[in-house]
Amino acid sequence: MKVPGSLAPLFVACLGILGCTQAVTLEVKEGNSTCIKAELSALLFITYSTFNSTSNVSTSLPDSTSVDAASSSCGAAGRPPWLVAVFGSGHTLGLSFATNGSFYSVTNLTLQYNLSDTSLFPQSNGSGVVTVVSSSVGIWAPINTTYRCASPTTIRAGGAAVTFSAMRLEAYMPDNDLSPAESVCVADQTTTTAPPTPTTTAAPAPTPPGTPETGEFSVTNSSGSVCLLAKMGLQLNVSYVSQSQNKTVQELVNVNPNLTVTSGSCGGTTASLVLTQQTTMLHLTFTMNSTTSKYHLSGINLLANWSDMTAPFSASNSSLDYLQSTLGRSYMCNTEQTLLVVPAFSLNTFRLQVQPFGVTDSQFAAAEECQLDQDQMLIPIIVGAALAGLVLIILVAYLIGRKRSHAGYQTI
Ligand SMILES: *[C@@H]1O[C@H](CO)[C@@H](O)[C@H](O)[C@H]1NC(C)=O
Ligand SMILES: *[C@@H]1O[C@H](CO)[C@@H](O)[C@H](O)[C@H]1NC(C)=O
Ligand SMILES: *[C@@H]1O[C@H](CO)[C@@H](O)[C@H](O)[C@H]1NC(C)=O
Ligand SMILES: *[C@@H]1O[C@H](CO)[C@@H](O)[C@H](O)[C@H]1NC(C)=O
Ligand SMILES: *[C@@H]1O[C@H](CO)[C@@H](O)[C@H](O)[C@H]1NC(C)=O
Ligand SMILES: *[C@@H]1O[C@H](CO)[C@@H](O)[C@H](O)[C@H]1NC(C)=O
Ligand SMILES: *[C@@H]1O[C@H](CO)[C@@H](O)[C@H](O)[C@H]1NC(C)=O
Ligand SMILES: *[C@@H]1O[C@H](CO)[C@@H](O)[C@H](O)[C@H]1NC(C)=O
Ligand SMILES: *[C@@H]1O[C@H](CO)[C@@H](O)[C@H](O)[C@H]1NC(C)=O
Ligand SMILES: *[C@@H]1O[C@H](CO)[C@@H](O)[C@H](O)[C@H]1NC(C)=O
Ligand SMILES: *[C@@H]1O[C@H](CO)[C@@H](O)[C@H](O)[C@H]1NC(C)=O
Ligand SMILES: *[C@@H]1O[C@H](CO)[C@@H](O)[C@H](O)[C@H]1NC(C)=O
Repeated sequence: MKVPGSLAPLFVACLGILGCTQAVTLEVKEGNSTCIKAELSALLFITYSTFNSTSNVSTSLPDSTSVDAASSSCGAAGRPPWLVAVFGSGHTLGLSFATNGSFYSVTNLTLQYNLSDTSLFPQSNGSGVVTVVSSSVGIWAPINTTYRCASPTTIRAGGAAVTFSAMRLEAYMPDNDLSPAESVCVADQTTTTAPPTPTTTAAPAPTPPGTPETGEFSVTNSSGSVCLLAKMGLQLNVSYVSQSQNKTVQELVNVNPNLTVTSGSCGGTTASLVLTQQTTMLHLTFTMNSTTSKYHLSGINLLANWSDMTAPFSASNSSLDYLQSTLGRSYMCNTEQTLLVVPAFSLNTFRLQVQPFGVTDSQFAAAEECQLDQDQMLIPIIVGAALAGLVLIILVAYLIGRKRSHAGYQTI
């Protein structure tokens, strides 16, 4: 995904001039329900032949871009879901989608440009519509999540290159809008994470990683205030098929807060926290029951593509009931907890405090402590009480013994 040399400065210059790369919102509907939605900016870079040489044109997807309802489809009658955007005089940009049940991806990008449009292609020696296709687009995300990529991503097709930026997109949408859960693209992760550490030599037996470091994570809403707070140490316990060992291995991996990019969203009844660390994405969904004003951790989704995996690992469970607390309170659990997600994946939490709803002034509200912590607190009390009781018994026994012996002396 190399940005053509001449395109990179152009792109930057374009960002400097407000309105040059416009964001467009495109929706494919079937009846009243929306199945594909995309918010994006796209810059097209096209090389074409003129009478005596070649020329380049660069244009952004204009504000007036619309969805071609006739060609677009939600995927009925054996056709894949297809988003076709039209702009200018007969130019189109199409994205077709596929899913395998757990992930969806853009299978191909089709750009059609009309060389007869002399305002865009002056001096073109040809005319009519040119169609170019790329089938290595590299846009994919778990189903029921929104693919998000702020970084420019260039896709080459024939003599053209399409650079997407500020992209948010979802196909196979369960609701009529983008899912609050986001899957952040790799480019966004690498721009904000520390430089990758040199690849470690293949360790034959991975040593247990120890207790994970406590990280502080927060999500801000559109008005810029913190709406979700979390402070915790996290450890992933994953079983997967190892490529080097050709068998299922079980690995413990600590989430390193220093390498983690935080994203997420807040809503009235659902909030999500997405932690992305290089090739690992952990996605936590919290749900509020507005009748009872209680919230809980209802969904955990893990996506991992570690170097020794034979295939990317994906696990998700959206009917969980962990970390229950009350609106206006935070949930706290200092004791280690194991949150089982699926048999092949559990999440261990350490020194945890979260508040996914009702955060004010970027601060945790009073905490509701988990039962495990309360039990832990009982232990010293019980031990103390037992010791006090023992001392008392010894004292009483001693006093009785002394009285008896005194009595003994007196009889003599
Ligand atoms: C779409 O919505 C309109 C008004 O909200 C309603 O009259 C119509 O029946 C709906 N159509 C479908 C296919 O649901
Ligand atoms: C190509 O032709 C145009 C006019 O037809 C002329 O202005 C231009 O200089 C020519 N370019 C080259 C590289 O010959
Ligand atoms: C291509 O552009 C020409 C000139 O603007 C226009 O007449 C023609 O209809 C366009 N072709 C398509 C397929 O829209
Ligand atoms: C690209 O996707 C469209 C829509 O699914 C399909 O009609 C077309 O054949 C695909 N092209 C290639 C080269 O795969
Ligand atoms: C336009 O020019 C290119 C390169 O000079 C040539 O390969 C192509 O056949 C020309 N197209 C037409 C329609 O003349
Ligand atoms: C996606 O969400 C829909 C509706 O919420 C649900 O029925 C479906 O099972 C979910 N799919 C996955 C893979 O989580
Ligand atoms: C990891 O999960 C396995 C079961 O998949 C379990 O036997 C093991 O005790 C777990 N280890 C930790 C440290 O949680
Ligand atoms: C992996 O193990 C299976 C049986 O456990 C064997 O059939 C297969 O050939 C092995 N693959 C490699 C690459 O060693
Ligand atoms: C994270 O960064 C802090 C401060 O830069 C450092 O003290 C700590 O060791 C780092 N932790 C890890 C796990 O790299
Ligand atoms: C909220 O909690 C009540 C009582 O536990 C339950 O009956 C109801 O189904 C819950 N509502 C939702 C949306 O989960
Ligand atoms: C997983 O990682 C491998 C190697 O780094 C890469 O070739 C592959 O494309 C990745 N898979 C996905 C789905 O990103
Ligand atoms: C779907 O595709 C992803 C990525 O290509 C892969 O990791 C996963 O195993 C596939 N799931 C199924 C059910 O085939």
